Amino acid sequence: MPATILVGTQWGDEGKGKATDLLAARTDFVVRYQGGNNAGHTVLAGGQLLKLHLIPSGILYPDVTPVLADGVVIDPKVLLEEMDALTDREIDPSRLAVSGNAHLIMPYHLAMDAVTERYLGKLKLGTTKRGIGPAYADKAMRLGLRVQDLTDPKIFREKLEVVLKEKNLVLSKVYNRLPLDGDSMAEDYLGYGERLAPHITDTAALLYEALRAGKRVLLEGAQGTLLDLDHGTYPFVTSSSPVAGGALAGSGLGPKEVDDVIGVTKAYVTRVGSGPFPTEDAGEAGRQMGEKGNEFGTTTGRARRCGWFDAVLLRYAVRINGLTELFLTKLDVLSGLPRLQICTAYRADDEVFEDVPPHQSLFHRAEPVYQRLSGWTEDLTAARRFQDLPPAAQAYVRRIEELAGVPVRYISVGPDREQTLEVTTSARHRRPA
Ligand code: GDP
Ligand code: IMO
Ligand code: MG
Repeated sequence: MPATILVGTQWGDEGKGKATDLLAARTDFVVRYQGGNNAGHTVLAGGQLLKLHLIPSGILYPDVTPVLADGVVIDPKVLLEEMDALTDREIDPSRLAVSGNAHLIMPYHLAMDAVTERYLGKLKLGTTKRGIGPAYADKAMRLGLRVQDLTDPKIFREKLEVVLKEKNLVLSKVYNRLPLDGDSMAEDYLGYGERLAPHITDTAALLYEALRAGKRVLLEGAQGTLLDLDHGTYPFVTSSSPVAGGALAGSGLGPKEVDDVIGVTKAYVTRVGSGPFPTEDAGEAGRQMGEKGNEFGTTTGRARRCGWFDAVLLRYAVRINGLTELFLTKLDVLSGLPRLQICTAYRADDEVFEDVPPHQSLFHRAEPVYQRLSGWTEDLTAARRFQDLPPAAQAYVRRIEELAGVPVRYISVGPDREQTLEVTTSARHRRPA
């Protein structure tokens, strides 16, 4: 069976958790391939509300195997707490498979994330302070400790000693912080390792064999296309590759294993943290999106910045990820806005750009070119078929589809698993009633 990749098309929080949970009903494996507990994925199904940071969103299905693949960075304390919290709610995390190649987030990564942000002052990135950037930096520097190191106390202590010597010098001499104690750190981590040992495996081989045996694999992205280290709004990005290409590198699967690439896209746009955001709306519409959409970070509780749908960014996400279809979320949040608008191009320095401008300065100065559309007042949360949507909502979806050049296959009208419409081809081409 082929694998499916699911990615965020914006700056994260598009509703990937909800989409993954829904699609996991038809899947055997759900795989996180990058990022760490900077992610916050919300799932609401069967009366259960889950806020997941590391564990893949398929966890509610007893037959799904959740996988943390090679490209993920793991804070083992957070992972074990998340597993315990699930167990307390009678959700069984025992099937979780964790790659031995995944890198560990260490206490000095958390310390460095905090001090480097403080050091940047008003130029700070607004990270989640979960140690993500410093952990990926050590991985690239070949100084990282990996999950498999936890299973060999001698190697773990040796590697930690070397790394900590340098980290403590930087923390104390550059940032004026107290040095961290290696012995207690090793003790804690080796303890986490004992508990994680039954889960540690070669996940790339596991997934390869699963596909050979006809099983279905869903690769769940965290963050989003515009937060990608290579393809996002650098430097206001995360330190991994959420895009579809990153799903292959992070899981160890080859490109021919994948057929569908689903882009999760919110019916408006949000961003947490610093960085350019051309369609940001500081007025009444942005306020309604934030309030009605409950746009507060799942991980840090920060208010998300809100703005109008940006089709330039969606087309970019279609291109960068090779999207085959869209999962449009939070359409219900737009009910009651008298007028809607979609950004179809940018204007910067008297030039019109239909694609993301080639230089960051142009993107920072980009003024959206908007197309106006009619709003609707009806509540959408009970709609279950495309035909149930009011004509103006149908037109809004169809315009997004036209601008993207790929079909909207699912429409989400509420946080619950049930509040989803699957759009059939015939419904898509029917004229609104
Ligand atoms: P993720 O990081 O992409 O998984 O998204 P988050 O879970 O951080 O943020 C999405 C939020 O919107 C969560 O609180 C979801 O429960 C909620 N949500 C998802 N889809 C919908 C929808 O269609 N309508 C509404 N009103 N809320 C939704
Ligand atoms: P999910 O998976 C939204 C943002 C942070 C910050 C930047 C870098 O829930 O969509 P980091 O801690 O990764 O070094 O922070 O990236 N960010 C997210 N924004 N959703 C996320 O994840 C995010 N993960 C990181 O706010 O601007
Ligand atoms: Mg989130």
